[in-house]
Amino acid sequence: MQKLVSDINRQGWSVNPGFLDQEVAVRLMIECRQAWENGDFRKAGVGRGDQLTIREDIRRDQVMWLDDTTLSPEQLAYHAKLETLRIALNQHFYLGLFSFEGHFAIYPEGAFYKAHLDRHSGTKDRLVTVILYLNPDWQPGDGGELKLWTTPGEKDGPFELIEPRLGTLVCFLAGDYWHEVQPAHKTRMSITGWFRQR
Ligand code: OGA
Ligand code: MN
Repeated sequence: MQKLVSDINRQGWSVNPGFLDQEVAVRLMIECRQAWENGDFRKAGVGRGDQLTIREDIRRDQVMWLDDTTLSPEQLAYHAKLETLRIALNQHFYLGLFSFEGHFAIYPEGAFYKAHLDRHSGTKDRLVTVILYLNPDWQPGDGGELKLWTTPGEKDGPFELIEPRLGTLVCFLAGDYWHEVQPAHKTRMSITGWFRQR
């Protein structure tokens, strides 16, 4: 947690392999796969509210939102870690983060998400993006890396290419960092979410 906080302080983004216990991450992965097989995922949209549209030229992942009122034991374990993170971020940066919203995401073979920012235009509610990867045997060549441009506000210049390995947590300021998901060559699983301000 200390490393994450100092990364955010120094550069606004952080990559943390092994953030979540292996066993909990595996159980989340199994739960994700099960929900997928049950048909519980929906094509992800672009925009919000009335403006929400399916744009397969922009993103091809499918999502299942987490419901705070019916969290599984492994979701609760992850939420507990996120709660510690939320409090740490608030203590260090006075961000006033008050809640988390998140979803499982699956990128089937060939799926991608073109370069974007996570903050909806004209809003300030999503302040910090948090992504947990759930791919136990990810290997170079499987695709689905997260490309994160590391200059705030720039969709150009230096970037990090982050491997979506089981238990790795990525965190960044949602309105500042352009990012994209490169085409997945194998099914790619994650939980993506946002800490929000009032
Ligand atoms: C998103 C997103 C990145 C990833 O869902 O907004 O950018 O690595 N996800 O899954
Ligand atoms: Mn995003």
